[in-house]
Amino acid sequence: MTPYPSTEALIAVESAHTSGVYPKRPVAIVRGAGARLWDADGREYIDCVGGQGAANLGHANPAVVAAIGEQAGRLISCPEIFYNDQRAAYLGELVAALPEGLERVFLCNSGAEAIEGALKTARLLTGRTGAVATVRGFHGRTMGALSATWEPKYREPFAPLLEGFTHIPYDKLDALDAAVSESTAAVLLELVQGEGGVRPASPAYVAGAARICRERGALLIVDEVQTGFGRTGRLWACEHYGLVPDIMALAKSIAGGLPMGTLAIHGRFGALPQGSHGSTFGGGPLVCAAARAALRYLLDSELPRQAAEKGAYLAERLRALALPRVREVRGMGLLVGLELKERVQPFLLALMERGVLALPAGPNVLRLLPPLVIEYEQLDRVIAAIGEVLC
Ligand SMILES: Cc1ncc(COP(=O)(O)O)c(C=O)c1O
Repeated sequence: MTPYPSTEALIAVESAHTSGVYPKRPVAIVRGAGARLWDADGREYIDCVGGQGAANLGHANPAVVAAIGEQAGRLISCPEIFYNDQRAAYLGELVAALPEGLERVFLCNSGAEAIEGALKTARLLTGRTGAVATVRGFHGRTMGALSATWEPKYREPFAPLLEGFTHIPYDKLDALDAAVSESTAAVLLELVQGEGGVRPASPAYVAGAARICRERGALLIVDEVQTGFGRTGRLWACEHYGLVPDIMALAKSIAGGLPMGTLAIHGRFGALPQGSHGSTFGGGPLVCAAARAALRYLLDSELPRQAAEKGAYLAERLRALALPRVREVRGMGLLVGLELKERVQPFLLALMERGVLALPAGPNVLRLLPPLVIEYEQLDRVIAAIGEVLC
């Protein structure tokens, strides 16, 4: 007996009252530790969903748990109209860890909000309204972020979205060259497309995009919501490319799993005009304390290096299986995708039955996004389960 209501009971209550927007799996997760999760019936899973990228530090990370507990007893909310000890410390620590030059930070609550803020900032700083985004790009689901997101089934029910957005093929410099004009405020890029199928950009594309933006006065916004905080084997995916963007959007694992987002702006633009943006919860002391603990833990435990080594181990062994249903294994660090020759959905359920939780990335890519603290023995179990279901 577990101390939780049964899976069946939990599913019944949620199904009666949930909004309905999420395609759900028939499992109720109630507890986690590191890369392990347990359901309401006491069954254990290896987690390769990783909170959809929010759990890089592992579930119930002790450093994050302690920081949240301590700060919760002292002060939970404090809007940015006041100064605050946790926020001040975090801003300094985050800026020290960001690519050099990113010196101005707006704190918000999610990835979509970071993108909204980035788009507003680009309009403000350039006086232009156009934006160039990419085919298969994913940037969130609020109206501005959705205007940059590509997937037609997410966009079409909500048209008309923001004017002035174009979507160009990803990783094709000619297309970018043709799309960026004197009315372009921003080019918005993921350095590895996550939701769009785990597709890393080539170094020449990223360097070319930065040059074209610089020459034409458009800002380069890099969306590191999924790739940031060690996921790709460096603290930021930007580091693989030697890139300092004009604006960087961060969220997901920033605060060890608590909701938080960030928009980091290059220092050459100076401070934004007062009143031009804002958020009640943004930069609250509880999330800042959690984010400080998360960043310290990431750096002290060298999680980016661990992600590089474990990611290489995982991808190499998956390739070595030479599975007939798999077209390609690709990715960066512990963001690994297996492109299948068929639809991925049934295999996600088959993996769950074998105690492994994984994600899709588009219709035919199996995406593995485990906490970076995952152990090698757990990776071996994931590899074995994938070998069984995709044979
Ligand atoms: C690259 C990227 N940008 C933005 C978002 C939106 O983040 P959120 O769900 O926190 O709004 C996501 C979410 O998956 C993402 O992967």
